[in-house]
Amino acid sequence: MSSTIESVLQESRLFPPSPQFVKQANISGMEAYRKLVAEAERDFEGFWARVARETLLWSKPFTQTLDESKAPFYRWFYDGELNASYNCLDRHLKSQPDKVAILFEADDGKVTRITYKELHREVCRMANALHAHGIKLGDRVLIYMPMSIQVVVAMQACARIGATHSVVFGGFSAKSLQERIIDAGATEVITADGQFRGGREIPLKPVVDEAFAMGGCEKVRNVIVYKRTGSSVPMRAPRDKWWHDVVKGQAEQCDPVNVNAEHPLFILYTSGSTGKPKGVQHSTGGYLLWAMLTMKWVFDNKPSDIFWCTADVGWVTGHTYINYGPLAVGTTVVMFEGVPTYPDAGRFWKIIQDHKVNVFYTAPTAIRSLIKAGGELPKKYDLSSLRLLGTVGEPINPEAWMWYHNTVGRERCPIVDTWWQTETGGILISPLPGVTPTKPGSATLPLPGIFADIVDETGQSVGKGKGGILVIKRPWPAMLRTIWGDPERYKKTYFPDDFKGKLYLAGDGASMDEEGYFRIVGRIDDVLNVSGHRLGTMEVESALVANSKLVAEAAVVGRPDELTGEAIVAFVVLKGHRPTGDEAHKMAEELRNWVAKEIGPLAKPKDIRFGDNLPKTRSGKIMRRLLRAIARGETIAQDVSTLENPAILEQLKQAM
Ligand code: WTA
Repeated sequence: MSSTIESVLQESRLFPPSPQFVKQANISGMEAYRKLVAEAERDFEGFWARVARETLLWSKPFTQTLDESKAPFYRWFYDGELNASYNCLDRHLKSQPDKVAILFEADDGKVTRITYKELHREVCRMANALHAHGIKLGDRVLIYMPMSIQVVVAMQACARIGATHSVVFGGFSAKSLQERIIDAGATEVITADGQFRGGREIPLKPVVDEAFAMGGCEKVRNVIVYKRTGSSVPMRAPRDKWWHDVVKGQAEQCDPVNVNAEHPLFILYTSGSTGKPKGVQHSTGGYLLWAMLTMKWVFDNKPSDIFWCTADVGWVTGHTYINYGPLAVGTTVVMFEGVPTYPDAGRFWKIIQDHKVNVFYTAPTAIRSLIKAGGELPKKYDLSSLRLLGTVGEPINPEAWMWYHNTVGRERCPIVDTWWQTETGGILISPLPGVTPTKPGSATLPLPGIFADIVDETGQSVGKGKGGILVIKRPWPAMLRTIWGDPERYKKTYFPDDFKGKLYLAGDGASMDEEGYFRIVGRIDDVLNVSGHRLGTMEVESALVANSKLVAEAAVVGRPDELTGEAIVAFVVLKGHRPTGDEAHKMAEELRNWVAKEIGPLAKPKDIRFGDNLPKTRSGKIMRRLLRAIARGETIAQDVSTLENPAILEQLKQAM
């Protein structure tokens, strides 16, 4: 960590926003930002109550702002009632019914636009269809769909009737899907026959069938299938129903079910330090408030904006900045089905040009891969519509930041490097584009109302110029409420006793420079960040060991990777003999595919090494520090005298 910290202190390039940008910004100038920060410091609850009243439409106004009596199970605006779908759709029906809500570009380039009025109608029809299936307040609906207008319709339809959705990213395997269906207790599944990505057809419904075949999904009464590819898929009556059949004849109006502000809007599974993914549970009121405020503050949203977030709806970024945030503020949001490099590495730039995108939000891993695939390509496109750029998901290296700034933003566009997590609901630390002088690679300052700090192991602030553990010191409305079905794990993971249960532990390491700017350096727990996707090392280990025919033992670590940020390296002990040469390659390929089947292709180890054993202490603990050093090709400087079997290190180093 120390070398990264030094580099923060050395980063002296500073990019203040242009006076023109500042003049038109929703939060304009440092003074305005400081005023909001001071308001939240002076009257914490008053600040949140004010913005919640000004921002959301309440069917029943709240009188209580924050309830801390069961901390860390905080409740916000808890005697208020509202409906998220009403806040996203109905509120625009009078003011801008014919404005395009979603501009969808398919993998093959076909563009579909849907207005707020049309989207409202489609959501109502699906909501009525779900009603007809007996789905009611509090039921869980699992959504496993491609990037499409329909996935937004499905999510909004759930919100409309107070059902809690759980979206599973389309790249997850049948096994992962089955686990999530069971854990969430879902009674309905919404999926599609398949999806198109990069000119290839990828099946979805067959994966759902495979998940069902694994057992345990008997609570699911209906599977709704949206026809996207048109390929033939087996439909099992009466459980499986086509989307177009279930919405046929449904009324175009559906009264929103107003729910308590604390009602779970969604559950989203994410990786933690153990083998079992966590169902992060979000609220309705607090979550939506922050989705809207960050659209206005961080993305400086204007009614005329064309906003494009390239994330998949299966991740939290897609929940907050494709669906809820952009729709609630009434912007036009671009949604793209495909991949950045198909048909060529100019695809993103062409989309920006064709649709005159104003605000573009993507991940460092995409930026790095596009630099590699064609660093000069953006120059061939008219990117003059862009006014603001954003990144999310992982630390952005200063070189990639500079390229983004120069080649994509043409030195005109502020860059917001936004730090947040599935658990935080929305952006917590980020530059404000009309306020903050930016530094390449720094997420800069916490947003108003967010009390972030960096502390040592005892919970003491480390102060400026130092590195440590990133924490949030006060609750905020968009924070997760619990882990679905596991409140103990929520407490232990996020409000550990080490900090007397008072500080929210983000799980990231960070450092603060002399100006108080935050730089996030990466996870401090056993969570990997591969291409901006969170994966637990334990999850991958469990998947490997689940191959009980072949694998005796496995340990997984991360290694820095130029393209994907981190790459997965697995050390494996087989039940039979240790393979070498061709046999090792074949075996590695077999295990990679196995992991793809267990979790999803995104979890495939880049590198698998076979050993007769793993480096262990005499008490039998695997020494991951050593494995990390080997994976990175570093010389092992640490004391290895406590090792039971020092000779194993040489073998693992050479086992390529
Ligand atoms: C990392 C994605 C550095 C961090 C919204 C965090 C970042 C994890 C940044 C959450 C950033 C996210 N700079 N690191 N701007 N944004 N991260 O839950 O390690 O998929 O804890 O949420 O991504 O990933 P998640």
